[in-house]
Amino acid sequence: MIKVNASHVLRDIDISSYKEEVNKAHRLIKERNGPGGDYLGWAHYPETYDKEEFERIIEAAKEIRENYEVLLVCGIGGSYLGARAAIEALNGLHGHDKIEIIYFGQTLSPNYVKQVLDYLENKTFAINVISKSGTTTETAVAFRLARDLLVRKIGKEAAAKAIFATTDKEKGALLQLCKKYGYRRYVLPSDIGGRYSVYTAVGLLPMAVAGIDIRAFMNGAKKGLELYGKPENNPAYEYALIRHELYKNGKYPVEMLVTYEPGLVQLGEWWKQLFGESEGKDHTGLLPDSATFTTDLHSLGQFIQEGSPVLFETILQIDNPAVDVIVPHDEDDLDGLNYLEGKGLDYVGKKACEGTVAAHVETGKVPNVLLSLDKLDAEGLGELMYFFMRACAMSCYLNDVNPFNQPGVEVYKKNMFRLLGKPGYTK
Ligand code: PA5
Repeated sequence: MIKVNASHVLRDIDISSYKEEVNKAHRLIKERNGPGGDYLGWAHYPETYDKEEFERIIEAAKEIRENYEVLLVCGIGGSYLGARAAIEALNGLHGHDKIEIIYFGQTLSPNYVKQVLDYLENKTFAINVISKSGTTTETAVAFRLARDLLVRKIGKEAAAKAIFATTDKEKGALLQLCKKYGYRRYVLPSDIGGRYSVYTAVGLLPMAVAGIDIRAFMNGAKKGLELYGKPENNPAYEYALIRHELYKNGKYPVEMLVTYEPGLVQLGEWWKQLFGESEGKDHTGLLPDSATFTTDLHSLGQFIQEGSPVLFETILQIDNPAVDVIVPHDEDDLDGLNYLEGKGLDYVGKKACEGTVAAHVETGKVPNVLLSLDKLDAEGLGELMYFFMRACAMSCYLNDVNPFNQPGVEVYKKNMFRLLGKPGYTK
């Protein structure tokens, strides 16, 4: 279970005084009759997911791992952030896996796109194109380029076998391509939006290809549903209430998610999309930011400690790391580090965290919410992601906004289409 510690938030929060509001919001989630209620498919997905498709995902992942050097994951926003967050969190940044995962379709940068295409010239690769709408420009353009390269390298028939598409079951441009060329197809259910889709094929196929135990991940999700899907004694709702209180009554407009793991940078990106796109509407909502300590203490630390008092921190701690590294003895001790000899880096990092919380809270007067996860493994991560999704839905309903739409994102997409002269968008 994720532990929530509110003893450093610099105010007394009476969680029980929110009982009625929480019950009301909980009912909206449960009965799916609040704003965006049609997009609550994720809430019970850890139990209701398509078991037959799940097995197909495992088979496809095996085939991809056996036959290709690279999997190109082609998607943007909710159609790639969850998978990337999970893969980097669990496999780290410098793993030795036999297959390399490359993210594509999340940028229009010609530099990045050209570099990836050049790199793929001498590699065998499969593509997992992920797009619910099938019309997202970044992804669609990247997919066209990657598909052309694949066809040029191995021919139309083999290319069709190397393309795996995740999209809506019934509509969209990508679905038409799948039907025409016979790509293997996986579903992003119509009642689940991109940023809540990590338990669907959107997240699971790339994760399985990266060698992650997706059964354990889904077990964690199920555990998450049990622990954080209930109205009372629910740490996810407790976290939602603390951040709500700090926003509404503390008047802090920014929440900074802090981790101590470089492998969790992308989890921060996923979390920012989840909360930012869900909460940021009707000119309300916390701005989600993220940082990795101790790295960013050497860049943002000064601002957090003594700059404008705009933010509170949410510190995600991992109680038991999978590995540790011991500081060795040195005969000369010219670097003066022998006092740490025999100590693990985890111990040193935890002391850094303790000292930083004290500095930011006691001296800097920056509220800190502490979240702790026992272990960062596939099961733990599956549970953690559910915790955040449930907390996010609760936060939005407490703020009276629809957690599941993103009308603001559509504005930029439409403007871009108009400026590019896309048929149907010229006025
Ligand atoms: O959360 C969202 O809805 C967005 O971030 C989308 O996932 C993103 O825009 C990609 O959309 P699509 O899957 O239709 O290509």
